Amino acid sequence: MVRLIQFYSPRGLKLSRAENQYVWDFDGRKYIDCHTQYGSLFLGHRNPRIITAIKDQLDKIYGAYPAFDTEAKEKALESLSKILPRKLEYVYMLNGGGEAVELSLKTARKLTGRKKFISFINAFHGRTMGALSVTWNPKYREGYDPFPWDVRFLPYNKVEEVEREVDNETAGVIVEVIQGEGGLNEASIEFLKAIREACDRTGAQMIIDEVQTGFGRTGYLWAHQIANIEPDILVAGKAIGGGFPVSLAAIKSELGEKLKEGDHGSTFGVNPLACSALTASIQVLLEENVVEKTASIGRVFRESLESIKGEFGEVVREVKGRGLMLGIETRFEPTPILKLLQDNGVIALRAGRLVLRFLPPYMITLQDIQHITEALKRALSQVKEEKITAKTSS
Ligand SMILES: Cc1ncc(COP(=O)(O)O)c(C=O)c1O
Repeated sequence: MVRLIQFYSPRGLKLSRAENQYVWDFDGRKYIDCHTQYGSLFLGHRNPRIITAIKDQLDKIYGAYPAFDTEAKEKALESLSKILPRKLEYVYMLNGGGEAVELSLKTARKLTGRKKFISFINAFHGRTMGALSVTWNPKYREGYDPFPWDVRFLPYNKVEEVEREVDNETAGVIVEVIQGEGGLNEASIEFLKAIREACDRTGAQMIIDEVQTGFGRTGYLWAHQIANIEPDILVAGKAIGGGFPVSLAAIKSELGEKLKEGDHGSTFGVNPLACSALTASIQVLLEENVVEKTASIGRVFRESLESIKGEFGEVVREVKGRGLMLGIETRFEPTPILKLLQDNGVIALRAGRLVLRFLPPYMITLQDIQHITEALKRALSQVKEEKITAKTSS
């Protein structure tokens, strides 16, 4: 019997079906999904417009190498021009976030001729070898060295370090606007601007990885807009295909026009099904005011978490994140809370060692937030009580 390699610790839940912000298990129990496949189902499970687009495409043509033109590819490019930063005129679609990070790093390496990269402590950019070389967590890196290139990990949000370390030998600086896997740490505007300035000064390429923060998740179309800057290369993934596997690297014209045949490629990149999902997702995003709705419901969710922090200060240290990329930093490892939440019908996930993270779809309602808040309070009370009992009996 073939078995799946356990790269992830099992959640003990077998899912049978899903709709919008909800999933059901095989016993018919309903859960609010705040995991959403690491945020990729931001437009909801089985979004009807995405289903229709993919079904229509299945009936026309669902496989074509990027060397061929298809209507799906043309429409995806046309749609992308509505949402990508103005100067990023070259784009390539791939399958997962890590692959798009690879393309961004390869582009910076090749077109600058330099080998040094700057990344940050707690950064996560994926697990393929190039992406892993700029991913910080020793747990993921151990045993896989040597890594390509000379990567320096600087402290996040330390402007002086950026000013000192980014130099004329730096190919690129890769940064997340909110570190997702690293614990929902937010970049300051000052820090993002300092990276932009250091890259302008030295000719290094600023790569912003919005695989998790992009496509409306933080209440902005792109999270970096908060700093009023533009990257040289933008990486996106997860939500952009409405749950269908698609990612992209968008590259500024001066670099993009120098990339040529053979520099990169992928059998399934730019495939018609992914392109149709991408186009439909952009339509949903723009026509259904997803960004605005996320900003407004995200504020309500954040307020609820703030009030929980007030009530459970012994357990909750801080509320973190923006839009619908939110979490609470706990004073101890939050896995028991995660488990209790799941028992109470809410699926969430961790971020870093101490953060309990919520990545719900944009259509989450006030009622859902109330349900999550109550489930969280119940879980926190139980955990708090268990800690007190353990303390008094020891
Ligand atoms: C910021 C960031 N970059 C890259 C990746 C890698 O994406 P994927 O798992 O689709 O390869 C992730 C995944 O969590 C991510 O959060």
